[in-house]
Amino acid sequence: MQQTFYITTPIYYVNDVPHIGHAYTTVAADVLARYHRLRGDDVFFLTGLDEHGQKVQQAAAKAGIDPQTYCDGMVPRFRSLWNRLDISNDAFVRTTDLKHKEFVQKQLQALYDNGLIYQKDYTGWYCTFDERFWTEKDVAAGLCPDCKRPVEQLSESNYFFRMGQYQDRLIKHIQDNPHFIRPLSRNNEVLGFLQKPLEDLSISRPKSRLSWGIELPFDPGYVTYVWFDALVNYISALEYLPPKPSFDRYWPASIHLVGKDILTTHAVYWSTMLMALGIALPTTIFAHGWWTVNGEKMSKSRGNAIDPNKVVDEFGTDALRYFLLREVPFGQDGDFSVQALSRRTNSDLANGIGNLLSRTLTMIDRNCDGTIPDVPQGYLERESEKYRLLLHAKEQLLTLGRHLDGFVEGFEFNDLLLHITSRATDVDIFIDEHEPWRLAKDPDKRLELNAVLYTAAECLRILSLYIYPVMPSAAKNITEQLGLDVDFSSPLLSQEITWGELQSGTKIRKGSALFPRVESKPQGAKPVSDAPTPSQPTTAASTPTTTTPQIPAAPAAAQPAAAPAQITIDEFMKIQLKTATVLSAERVPKSEKLLKLQVDLGSEQRQIVAGIGKKYEPEQLIGKKIVIVANLKPAKLMGIESQGMVLAAGDKDVGWLVTVLEEIDPGTKVK
Ligand code: MSP
Repeated sequence: MQQTFYITTPIYYVNDVPHIGHAYTTVAADVLARYHRLRGDDVFFLTGLDEHGQKVQQAAAKAGIDPQTYCDGMVPRFRSLWNRLDISNDAFVRTTDLKHKEFVQKQLQALYDNGLIYQKDYTGWYCTFDERFWTEKDVAAGLCPDCKRPVEQLSESNYFFRMGQYQDRLIKHIQDNPHFIRPLSRNNEVLGFLQKPLEDLSISRPKSRLSWGIELPFDPGYVTYVWFDALVNYISALEYLPPKPSFDRYWPASIHLVGKDILTTHAVYWSTMLMALGIALPTTIFAHGWWTVNGEKMSKSRGNAIDPNKVVDEFGTDALRYFLLREVPFGQDGDFSVQALSRRTNSDLANGIGNLLSRTLTMIDRNCDGTIPDVPQGYLERESEKYRLLLHAKEQLLTLGRHLDGFVEGFEFNDLLLHITSRATDVDIFIDEHEPWRLAKDPDKRLELNAVLYTAAECLRILSLYIYPVMPSAAKNITEQLGLDVDFSSPLLSQEITWGELQSGTKIRKGSALFPRVESKPQGAKPVSDAPTPSQPTTAASTPTTTTPQIPAAPAAAQPAAAPAQITIDEFMKIQLKTATVLSAERVPKSEKLLKLQVDLGSEQRQIVAGIGKKYEPEQLIGKKIVIVANLKPAKLMGIESQGMVLAAGDKDVGWLVTVLEEIDPGTKVK
């Protein structure tokens, strides 16, 4: 049944350009909006800007322009970022919109007329940064309890909203509605705050002190406190932004997504404002955690705020969206680093789903004339023993489809993405098990080959549906490469997913890599291109003479064998063994034995020529985690430079490549 789903982000202050923290809330809201549209719900997704108040007035003064011009100039910075991040908001609200201002004034007047706003003289401790008063008992050592900046004592006549009278009702509402504040752990935080008497809220600022705000309709000497103006956006937008009228259609909001720092303003100020206005409370307020950068708090003064535009330039939109939701359980704090982002992009996306698509389509191209092969109905089931792994992967994938709602309703994005990437790994595993590159050489194995390739392609089609909310471009790209024209704006998840919608005979359109691999740059490391490329021929395992990693040489098969019977631990320690992930593999022309590999070493990419071609087909090796000798001098084999040596077991001919069983970061030391 179709449901309405109204989701909001906080409206962002325009006193600064957007950073990764703003992108986080907006991307998460977008994922929820896209998911619900895919489920067939009637979605309204709102984001926008908070343009009044002291912070913005100060920023405009610093820029030497009037606040309105300043705000207008900031709008494109946010809008263009949301475009780049594929944010699908249905409306964009600005608190300087005339209609918003009129709406706020209407609500203020109604509260004033009902005696819920009154004037009184007040002496309190004022924090300019947070734009709010604190009482004597809140302020320790002259510092704001929230931002820890110095506060000043101010005596003013101000207007107050009778917030205190809603205290008991709010406590009851929170206790009766366990889904009102989420994650559940945040309930106690708000209930703890409500254990102290809830004071009335000062909702005005004298114009003599702050002029950039919405004038109080009943006293032109004052402007409205910025939060009393900003929070109202969640309902003002429904009144004046299209599609309208939409208040009855979308209110109460399904989810207000906010950062943990603004949970109290939402759970307490906004809820009591709504109670006073006689309007139902939102269903859920979800508070997510904060990102630090390389372990440090992100701030303008530290100069470490991450510009999402730069991240997109380097990694792409989908990789950033994936990272933000995969790296940290939603609700908890996380640490942002380029190293972590590179690792995720390469291991989960480039070597994971990206590689799966590429190898599947390469094999279909090569062996099935570029069309999706045919598998007789019921064939896999009849041969269930033979196709055990393949049927298991299919079942697991369909089962995940039945659990998507649970993950999304629980805000368990990271778990969901973990399950999705694991399902892609299942497919890789059955491909390896059936070795389609061998099947292709035997005409009697045609049916088995078709079964494996069809199943892989159909799994990819289904995976594209699952990843769409988080990675919309990649989802479209997968389906296009599979030769399909899928309309992701239609309610594709409104019914249970059915197996077999991919039609045999469909002409695939293999394109470029779904997720280009990124070069990871650990702090302090030189870029790969800076590494020296000595040209002298190889001698085995020499000690590096510089601290820059040596580019080693020589494939396994070309090694001289004259090693002493015993070596000391010091001698052994001279050999740098490291894990590496095979990114690509191809045969060296005119050689039966040599394969040219590109491997990811975590901090750099290497080319290795290895004598393993008799035993392994190139397609088999992609994505494998191998062990290499990382400090051999380079050597040329059949004119191709080899910058390392793979480890493999076997006496004369290579028998078994040494691999690592578990997930492991490329570049990990092997001892
Ligand atoms: N204008 C108010 C919100 C009014 S909503 C009616 C505001 N704006 S803000 O621009 O300062 O912050 C907006 C959001 O960005 C908040 O949800 C905040 O939690 C989030 N973040 C700011 N820095 C952040 C991180 N370092 N990490 C994650 N989110 C962060 O508050």
